[in-house]
Amino acid sequence: MNDRSLTVLAVGATGSIGRLVVAEALRRGHRVKALVRDAGRAERVLPAAADLAVGDLTRPATLAAAVDDVDAIVLTHGSGTREADVRDIDYAGVANILTALDGRRARIALMTAVGTTRPGTPYAAWKRRAERLVRASGNAYTIVRPGWFDYNDATQRAIVFRQGDTEQSGTPADGVIARDEIARVLVDSLTNPEADHRTFELVASDGPEQDDLTPLFAALTRDAADALDAAEDAATAPLADEPQRFRDDLAALPR
Ligand SMILES: NC(=O)c1ccc[n+]([C@@H]2O[C@H](COP(=O)([O-])OP(=O)(O)OC[C@H]3O[C@@H](n4cnc5c(N)ncnc54)[C@H](OP(=O)(O)O)[C@@H]3O)[C@@H](O)[C@H]2O)c1
Repeated sequence: MNDRSLTVLAVGATGSIGRLVVAEALRRGHRVKALVRDAGRAERVLPAAADLAVGDLTRPATLAAAVDDVDAIVLTHGSGTREADVRDIDYAGVANILTALDGRRARIALMTAVGTTRPGTPYAAWKRRAERLVRASGNAYTIVRPGWFDYNDATQRAIVFRQGDTEQSGTPADGVIARDEIARVLVDSLTNPEADHRTFELVASDGPEQDDLTPLFAALTRDAADALDAAEDAATAPLADEPQRFRDDLAALPR
């Protein structure tokens, strides 16, 4: 479905979602480069068909070879909920990958989380800043905000895209989704022409999984060109209130 063969860099490839992204991208005939910190461990958990690029998101010099020659990048890395970790790994990892591209274009698929725009949540604020860098980077992109991983019942396989990020209780009541469906949506977005400049929450409802995601992508409101925020996000984070570090990263983005 809409597939052409790409070279896809999987960032967070050894993680619970990243492993499924690697498998799904290979299944769809893409070449996969997996960014990994420990090649020995990666060889044990990833299919042999994936190429390994050894690098660390917190060490920019290690990323140039990883982004060299890629058509697309799927970012599913993560560190937890400690603000400093989300800033230094989740957020800075996105900034460092975009910088490593050095102006070359790549199709981006970024996974953040439902509730990313929730005010007063410091770790979420860094996720939102990572989204903002991707939107400002000049690349074609899709930003996927999944609900709670694998909290779905077996009957909840119908994929639902929502916008506006209005469910912010911080509990599974905000939405649930199976891990394999997250990977499917991320990989599908790379080649689905309706997915570009879309930001949405990804959850599931009762029913079977759809064969074709195109109508779901096409029904979404597109993010405005060069907008920092998603089309239907509440304007709760004025740029003037953002930390200097973020404003410096935004200004330094290669475009
Ligand atoms: N749990 C939920 O219900 C839920 C819902 C929505 C969103 N999320 C988000 O999902 C993310 C977690 O996804 P997951 O379960 O796939 O995570 P995970 O299993 O913990 O995997 C994290 C991945 O990030 C990599 N990583 C961490 N630091 C790195 C660094 N410095 N350089 C390179 N790679 C690094 C890890 O590599 P190593 O193998 O080398 O450690 C691993 O591949 C979190 O950001 C969370 O906010 C979670």
